[in-house]
Amino acid sequence: MPALRHIASGKVREIYEVDEERLLFVATDRISAYDVILNQLIPDKGRVLTGVSLHFFDYLDTPNHLVTTDLSDIPGLDDELEDLSGRTMVVRRAEVIPVECVVRGYLYGSSWREYREGGGPTTEHLPSGLLLADRLPEPIFTPATKAATGHDENITESETRQLLGDDLYEELRRRSIDIYLRAADYASEKGVILADTKFEFGFAGDELLLIDEVLTPDSSRYWPADEWVPGQDVPSFDKQFVREWLDATDWDRTAPAPDLPADVVAGTRSRYIEAYDRITGGSFDEYLASNG
Ligand SMILES: Nc1ncnc2c1ncn2[C@@H]1O[C@H](COP(=O)(O)OP(=O)(O)O)[C@@H](O)[C@H]1O
Ligand SMILES: [Mg+2]
Repeated sequence: MPALRHIASGKVREIYEVDEERLLFVATDRISAYDVILNQLIPDKGRVLTGVSLHFFDYLDTPNHLVTTDLSDIPGLDDELEDLSGRTMVVRRAEVIPVECVVRGYLYGSSWREYREGGGPTTEHLPSGLLLADRLPEPIFTPATKAATGHDENITESETRQLLGDDLYEELRRRSIDIYLRAADYASEKGVILADTKFEFGFAGDELLLIDEVLTPDSSRYWPADEWVPGQDVPSFDKQFVREWLDATDWDRTAPAPDLPADVVAGTRSRYIEAYDRITGGSFDEYLASNG
């Protein structure tokens, strides 16, 4: 790996220091399910996530952390350039705001579980009588805390306001919902529903930037529009496949996970690549040809 100072490892990313203001943000091929990192890599998954994020940074044109994908000026990377290409961004180093900015347009996942069980932090502004996977009257901002280990925890509006202050809360909600609406419109033109997604923001000096990955299959729930039926489970792209395989084992969702057979790895890989093509309207082969 690069001869730069290693700063942090996330579940999926490795982060290195370029200089005081910039980081090397590398998406590996690791995959996590139920917050556990699986034992197998999904080849090119990190390139898919990086390609989708680059696509949306460009499309959204909102202040964000991307500096460049050109690594040729970064000292000390010569031997690693091939491994890093397509999966690496130079980004502005930010002070991460410790709240995951989740926006939901549909009732699913942890929010549906709260709703079904009588309500929780994400459902405080919802009407009664909604079904699983129903479209919400309007998108809702449902922040979660970034748990250092384990599962993220949904928090209420007043808890979030206490954590961030009213001004920052309102700014993050406004920006998150605005980006969600634009991305959801974009996706719907491609026959895809953006059911929910998660953003992270951070400060570089006093600039509030969209950071991390953006609108990827890992940070978002995308549904094929023609398979959406309110009241029923909806299959999402990508991770659903590996989750279903895991669910069919007797795994208790704590580490270590069972080993994925080669056909499950291959099937997952092809779903990520399909997701790239479908979500960006481009071709992953072309992405690799120019960035791989
Ligand atoms: N511009 C940035 N500056 C500093 N940290 C960042 C920036 N963008 C993203 N991060 C952080 O980098 C990490 C990304 O690694 P990832 O593997 O996705 O982590 P996680 O397991 O928390 O999802 C996250 O902790 C995220 O908050
Ligand atoms: Mg992450």
